[in-house]
Amino acid sequence: MHFEYQIEGGNFTRAGFASSEIKKMLKQLNVDLGIIKRTVVATYEAEVNVVAHAYSGTIYVDVDEEKIIIKLVDEGPGIENIDEAMKEGYSTASSKVREMGFGAGMGLPNMKKNADELKISSEVGKGTTVEIRMMFG
Ligand SMILES: Nc1ncnc2c1ncn2[C@@H]1O[C@H](COP(=O)(O)OP(=O)(O)OP(=O)(O)O)[C@@H](O)[C@H]1O
Ligand SMILES: [Mg+2]
Repeated sequence: MHFEYQIEGGNFTRAGFASSEIKKMLKQLNVDLGIIKRTVVATYEAEVNVVAHAYSGTIYVDVDEEKIIIKLVDEGPGIENIDEAMKEGYSTASSKVREMGFGAGMGLPNMKKNADELKISSEVGKGTTVEIRMMFG
C-alpha cells in the first residue's frame, strides 16, 4: 500500500496533520498499537522538522506484510553535519520556531529512539531525506 502527503515549510498550523492521517491509516490497517505509537512519534518529529527547517516536502508511506517505510523528502537548506544534528540539545531553530514551542534539539534523538531503523541523508543547499523503517513482529 502506498500513500503520499505534502508538507508546507513554515506552516505550523498544519504541522502534524500528515502524521495524524498516517496514524488513522495504520489503525485502519490494524497495525499493532505499540508500533503505531512509535511510528507516529518518529514521523511527527520528522514532519515538524520539515515545517521548521525546510521549505517544502513530501512524505511517502509504504506498508506491506513485513514493514512500514516512511520517507520524508524535503527541499531546504540541508544538514551540514548529521552526527552533530543527532546530538540531544543541538538546534539551529530560529527565534520564530522557538516561539512556536520547538527547538529543544530533541526531535532527531527522539526519532532514533522510536524508529526500528533511521536513515538520514542530506545535501547542503538542496534538502534532506529521512527514512523511518518499522518492522512487524
Ligand atoms: N529537515 C531538515 N532540514 C534542515 N535541517 C534540519 C532538518 N531536520 C533537522 N535539521 C537540523 O537538525 C537540528 C536538530 O534537529 P532536532 O529535530 O533534533 O531539533 P530541533 O528541530 O531544532 O528542535 P525540536 O525537534 O526539539 O523541536 C535542527 O535544529 C536543524 O539544524
Ligand atoms: Mg525537530
